[in-house]
Amino acid sequence: MLRRAMVALWLWLLLAVVASTVASGMKVPAIFVFGDSTADVGNNNYLPGSSARADFPHNGIDLPSGELRGRFSNGLIGVDFLAADMGFSRSPPSYLALIVANSSGGDEAMSNTTKKTMGVAASIRGANFASGGSGVLDSTGATINMTKQIEYFSDLKDQMLSTRLSTYRVTALLSKSIFLISAGANDTFDFFSQNTSPDCTALQQFCEAVVSTYDSHVKTLYNLGARKFAVIDVPMLGCCPYWRSRNPTGECVKPLNQLASKLNDGIRDLFGDLGSEMQGMNYSIGSSYELVASLIEDPQSAGFTEVKSACCGGGRLNAEEGCTPSSGYCSDRSKFLFWDLLHPTQATSRLAGRAFYDGPARFVGPITFRQLGEA
Ligand SMILES: *[C@@H]1O[C@H](CO)[C@@H](O)[C@H](O)[C@H]1NC(C)=O
Ligand SMILES: *[C@@H]1O[C@H](CO)[C@@H](O)[C@H](O)[C@H]1NC(C)=O
Ligand SMILES: *[C@@H]1O[C@H](CO)[C@@H](O)[C@H](O)[C@H]1NC(C)=O
Ligand SMILES: *[C@@H]1O[C@H](CO)[C@@H](O)[C@H](O)[C@H]1NC(C)=O
Repeated sequence: MLRRAMVALWLWLLLAVVASTVASGMKVPAIFVFGDSTADVGNNNYLPGSSARADFPHNGIDLPSGELRGRFSNGLIGVDFLAADMGFSRSPPSYLALIVANSSGGDEAMSNTTKKTMGVAASIRGANFASGGSGVLDSTGATINMTKQIEYFSDLKDQMLSTRLSTYRVTALLSKSIFLISAGANDTFDFFSQNTSPDCTALQQFCEAVVSTYDSHVKTLYNLGARKFAVIDVPMLGCCPYWRSRNPTGECVKPLNQLASKLNDGIRDLFGDLGSEMQGMNYSIGSSYELVASLIEDPQSAGFTEVKSACCGGGRLNAEEGCTPSSGYCSDRSKFLFWDLLHPTQATSRLAGRAFYDGPARFVGPITFRQLGEA
């Protein structure tokens, strides 16, 4: 009951301010985020015992307070920068923070903290369902799988419809909102870990499975009212410190990059088809693969001095162990491409946000995220 009341309040606040969207400089009414650790802003903080959490030091070391803990980064991540570019004061809060945050009080009046949470959520408009460790395939990881993330969104939509708002207004709100999906890295990672030299058939089957599952997730979201899809592709995984540290030469693991690239081609083709098939749909694909490639080709222009080893961790390239409270970490984080064995630094995420929002065709297409917002 309390949970329901909280969501209702939040939605009321959310929708009450939609009218002020234009005046406040926001380019879209709301942002809904799905995916893995590249987009998780703290949902996994609510998964007791999960190993895929980041709500401990040294994660968040460059953030002003512990408030934003839960990101796999020294600071902010790509969704934070994109939300800022879209005119939001903060990126959408994690859904579980909204829902779980203090259901302990039964049906009593909401605590001030809860009210504050809801108020903040309303002022930043949207929700983030992403969960580190998850994939496009529900069988990937042991956190909140994509089907469940979409179910949570559907619950939220039901709550919207149960407020005094008309179906018409909810439909309008959703059709103008951005649905950001950043997924596929964990599927690729898992598949490759189990098949380091996959034959053509296995590779083909894997890509087909991921693409067809992606297809069904997008269609489910479309049927729930989503129209504007901002997609982030699979990063150049073979060059992350984790894989380099396992390669005797310390170089990128090429077959893994080829796999990621092949999957990205499949995702690009899929959205091309969906774009012509689904009426009124618009999409934009931001390429984290190309972004990482460009930073490795030319680190200096981004002000980076280290693109191979992780800033925080242990062992070879600081990547044989993850970043934990007892790990060593670099002091000059703005010069590192990678924060930990798998995840980018805030500096890299800032560049990614800029490249996807308004960058050249190498990094985003067929339209930019900015054009998607305006479409
Ligand atoms: C709920 O509130 C209590 C104290 O008011 C706090 O200790 C607890 O961590 C909160 N739970 C969540 C999930 O935020
Ligand atoms: C995939 O998920 C696991 C947790 O289940 C995590 O340790 C790993 O870092 C993730 N891999 C990538 C590439 O995000
Ligand atoms: C996806 O998550 C739901 C909810 O946690 C769970 O019931 C389901 O079994 C999961 N699917 C797979 C394939 O693990
Ligand atoms: C958005 O999609 C609509 C309908 O599919 C299409 O007519 C329009 O050109 C698209 N806009 C952009 C900016 O791609």
